[in-house]
Amino acid sequence: MRYGSDLSFLHFSPTKVVFGNRSLSELPSELDGLSAARALVVTDAVLAAKTDLVERVKKALGRRFAGVYSDVMPDSGVGIVDRGAAKAKELAVDAIVSIGGGSSIDTAKGIAIVHAFGGSLRDHQGFQGMSAPTTPHIAIPTTAGTGSEVTKVAVIKDEEAHQKLLFGDFHLYPRVAILDPELTFGMPPMITAGTGLDAFTHAVEALHAMQAEPVADALALHAIRLVVRHLPAVMKEPASVLHRGQMLIAATMAGIAFDNAQVGLVHAIAHTVGARHRVHHGTANAIALPHVLRFNADVAAEAYREAGLAMGVETTGMPDEAAVDVVARAIEQLVASVGLPTRYRDVGVPEADLPAIAEGALSDGAIVYNPKPVTEASDVLGVLRAAY
Ligand SMILES: [Fe+2]
Repeated sequence: MRYGSDLSFLHFSPTKVVFGNRSLSELPSELDGLSAARALVVTDAVLAAKTDLVERVKKALGRRFAGVYSDVMPDSGVGIVDRGAAKAKELAVDAIVSIGGGSSIDTAKGIAIVHAFGGSLRDHQGFQGMSAPTTPHIAIPTTAGTGSEVTKVAVIKDEEAHQKLLFGDFHLYPRVAILDPELTFGMPPMITAGTGLDAFTHAVEALHAMQAEPVADALALHAIRLVVRHLPAVMKEPASVLHRGQMLIAATMAGIAFDNAQVGLVHAIAHTVGARHRVHHGTANAIALPHVLRFNADVAAEAYREAGLAMGVETTGMPDEAAVDVVARAIEQLVASVGLPTRYRDVGVPEADLPAIAEGALSDGAIVYNPKPVTEASDVLGVLRAAY
């Protein structure tokens, strides 16, 4: 266990974090720091068409601006990555700058791979297979949730095989993450709430995960404090530099935490519900989270008591099961207070599909890090029924 005398762990977080309002202006000097002179901006079509964010990045880049690739889709695919890499090659860039949510940042990670090593993204699947650094990538998140700006993984859809491909490598960390609160002002309320709960779930799952370790614990606990304080506040005051900024910090801290500690059953369920029924990832997490706490109560009560303390929920003196239930209820209240649904029946999941979702979650990579081993679909089904 993480507090035992046989403790051993590895913690790695090489991404330079640059935080501050108007910190977008640091982009040129950060590129100079990477010895990069020409950057391709990677973003999605909505951001490019409906906001001035790309224009602002272009202006900040000045002579270092080489072009924009704005074909990113909500679940970006191999073809989108390969075409982006072709554009990067054509423009002879030496850096990638992503601006957007998790999909834009993950797509940029894929482009950085193909641009550096050639071929198609399909040729580079798997874990720790890269022998050299990818093309330098600076990530600028416009949502506060996924944490992709500080993680070594990318999830890209294989459109032909109808599969999600996973990429994980120390060379995939963005070199720099620029966190500029103003750039997240445009998030619609449901995305603010959903991505905020994604960050919260990363923090709680980092605390209970099999690879939990003290450095990640500290990051996760502070991320929980920040979400509890600033997510309800930002829902009321969406143009607050303070609350937007603290949510960006929370998402990044939770991202570093789960990048090292991993996640668990909540994400295994959310990945499957998301793939089968297009439920927003953060919302799918928010619905499952309290019920997974109750499922894991007998093995992870200590982690959940700590999460509770960070939320301001006192459980001293209570037996484990009661303590975990109190924390789970506090999470349910948080989810409801920001206007998110708390049941899968309310987000278009058909009840008849629950057994198939349970089977799907069993084969998701995140499940192996759940603190309580999950080997039977019936265990997942129990959690799903409670969350329905
Ligand atoms: Fe997540």
